[in-house]
Amino acid sequence: MEFKTLLLEVTGAVAVVTINRPDKLNALNAQVLDDLDACFSHLGTDDAVRAVVLTGAGEKAFVAGADISQFTKFDAQGAAAFARRGQDVFNRIEQLGKPVIAAINGFALGGGCEIAMACHIRIASANARLGQPEVGLGLMCGFGGTQRLPRIVGMGNALELLTTGSHITAERALMIGLVNQMVEPGEALAAATKMAGVISKQAPNGVRLSLQAALATDAHLAEGLELEVELFSQTFETEDLTEGVSAFLERRRPDFTGR
Ligand code: COA
Repeated sequence: MEFKTLLLEVTGAVAVVTINRPDKLNALNAQVLDDLDACFSHLGTDDAVRAVVLTGAGEKAFVAGADISQFTKFDAQGAAAFARRGQDVFNRIEQLGKPVIAAINGFALGGGCEIAMACHIRIASANARLGQPEVGLGLMCGFGGTQRLPRIVGMGNALELLTTGSHITAERALMIGLVNQMVEPGEALAAATKMAGVISKQAPNGVRLSLQAALATDAHLAEGLELEVELFSQTFETEDLTEGVSAFLERRRPDFTGR
């Protein structure tokens, strides 16, 4: 299968999906979301594939977030639709019925950290940087970060990341459980592919049902995601959003007023 913004390579029972916009650090625009949706629906129905690795093209980034250049054209309604679309695609990944391992080869920021959290397992190279920097742009997470981060790293760590917007090192991410494994720079894809190989030798029904049972402990996830969409869209009615996004695009520091 061919996609505008993804590469899909299947070797044996392991599929590797690479988000392929390296000049924009693999930022997620509407086309990438459409491609991920189509790719993961295909992988869900392909019985020959038993485990999936998701990574980003290039040396520098896994995914540097949602595509900030799209934000200038959204009103609150458009922002809500964009967040809902991202959440639906990420839910499709989480509900694939086969393990998806994120091979985090560099920056995993904003939507990049959020898509990694929708994957079931995360392996980061030692030079990776993770975080939710949305508050520095005048917005907040809209692709599930406010819901999945506390579930993965605990409330204290999650609130620190969500409110400081700081990037953390792979080492800290390992310490707080945001990633399962840290490997040498350049080795994330190989380590993730190796783990996918181990998974692909297990009984597919046992693996699928284990995922289903474990993910069912998240009974309130859907409610939380809907609240996130509502609150995310509110930030698009603020002056700080306009200031934060313009500042990023103009490569200057934002001056927030709280309006
Ligand atoms: N959306 C759109 N474009 C993005 C992007 C994003 N989230 N992240 C990076 N890019 C683009 C840059 O605009 C730049 O494009 P250009 O070469 O056409 O100007 C290119 O990717 C390279 O990024 P650049 O900022 O020049 O690299 P850097 O090494 O100076 O900084 C980062 C790397 C990751 C620290 C920086 O790109 C960044 O902060 N990105 C945004 C992260 C973020 O806030 N994500 C959450 C979004 S909600």
